[in-house]
Amino acid sequence: MKIVKGSISVPGDKSISHRAALFSAMTPQTNRFTNFNFNFDCTATLYCLADMGIAWHKKDDFLEIQGKLPEEWNRPDTPLYAANSGTTARLLSGILSALPFKTTLTGDVSLSKRPMGRIIDPLRQMGADIRSEDGHLPMEYFPVQRLQGIRYRLPVASAQVKSAVLLAGLFAQGETEVIETTPSRDHTERMLKLKKSTNPDGTVSLFSSSECVVPELSMAIPGDFSSAAFFIAAALLLPGSELLIRDVSLNPTRTGLLNVLEQMGARLDVRLKNEEPEPMGDIFVRSQELQNIQISPELVPNIIDEIPILSLLAVRSEGPFVLRGAKELRFKESDRIAALVSNYQRLGVQVREFEDGLEISGPQNIGGGSIQTFGDHRIAMTFAIANLLSDDDIVLDDKQCAAVSFPQFWDTLEEITHG
Ligand code: S3P
Repeated sequence: MKIVKGSISVPGDKSISHRAALFSAMTPQTNRFTNFNFNFDCTATLYCLADMGIAWHKKDDFLEIQGKLPEEWNRPDTPLYAANSGTTARLLSGILSALPFKTTLTGDVSLSKRPMGRIIDPLRQMGADIRSEDGHLPMEYFPVQRLQGIRYRLPVASAQVKSAVLLAGLFAQGETEVIETTPSRDHTERMLKLKKSTNPDGTVSLFSSSECVVPELSMAIPGDFSSAAFFIAAALLLPGSELLIRDVSLNPTRTGLLNVLEQMGARLDVRLKNEEPEPMGDIFVRSQELQNIQISPELVPNIIDEIPILSLLAVRSEGPFVLRGAKELRFKESDRIAALVSNYQRLGVQVREFEDGLEISGPQNIGGGSIQTFGDHRIAMTFAIANLLSDDDIVLDDKQCAAVSFPQFWDTLEEITHG
């Protein structure tokens, strides 16, 4: 069997890179970011901004963005294209709703199937004039007199929806309050230094208004924990492996997988090196045997992007793994519950499918076979790791889609794989 060994760093965090670009574009200052992730998704954000007159340059090892106030942005000549990126589409919608000119936003086939009603509803409550045939892209945004602040309780735990509403709130009359019952990733409120308070019922409120000033944003973007997760899993599962992952995000709203792994019995060496502006540090992983657990539904938003690779950890760990309350997985770049179940079946792995989750009894052998990625980067990377665990070949129909979040994935994997 193969092992992974060595020391790696992973590309900059995708969620932070999107926000770095979008927020810098809104302020008449120059911001610089090292380790910006020029993956397909974040590049889509940069090109949408360039279409509206925002100048950015890739220089040596950093990205420089010269922003301007959104009322001074240019009216784009053609529809903006968010490609495969839900974060681009949803966060940008919060800004497009407030612009003094009409814009149209489109996306690829997968993004055009993903639900946009979840942002259209609150943005319309704020007075936005958004037109969409059936709650999907393409969407048109018409100029309105002025948006109005709202108090909005999130019906789904979603950092994208939270951020879209808070961004629109920066242009609205009065204050906008977004109430979260289950915490989702907090990069928007951290980076924009938004006001936050905990309510008597334990929910959290975030506030934005036109009084908020976009702060200085320049930073070294930490490595993406969601990308690191594939290598953490490989090192845990392949006996004899030892891997150091350097300068990766340790933002607690992103590292739920570390808590899950601890509950599964894993001992990881995690060293926090920096707290501000985003927590980051090193993770050292050694192979070890793990016991499956039942995942509590309130943890799901914290591990949402790591569930595909967590399912692979479950296949190789001892006992029953149960995940419920994860229906959101059906609305990602692919229907990830269906994609995992159908692909595991192709490899002879037994998985029970629920509308909102999965049940897996481990450990199971992983056979060979062909995998349908559905163009979903996280499905592709999950089965690339499965390939290391199988005695037979696992062949993906599309390896390139990994570049949606992690263009260097295949090179990094090759670099650390031995045997
Ligand atoms: C993201 C939030 C998550 C996540 C996505 C990136 C973000 O989506 O799955 O990959 O950058 O805000 P939801 O907030 O819709 O769950």
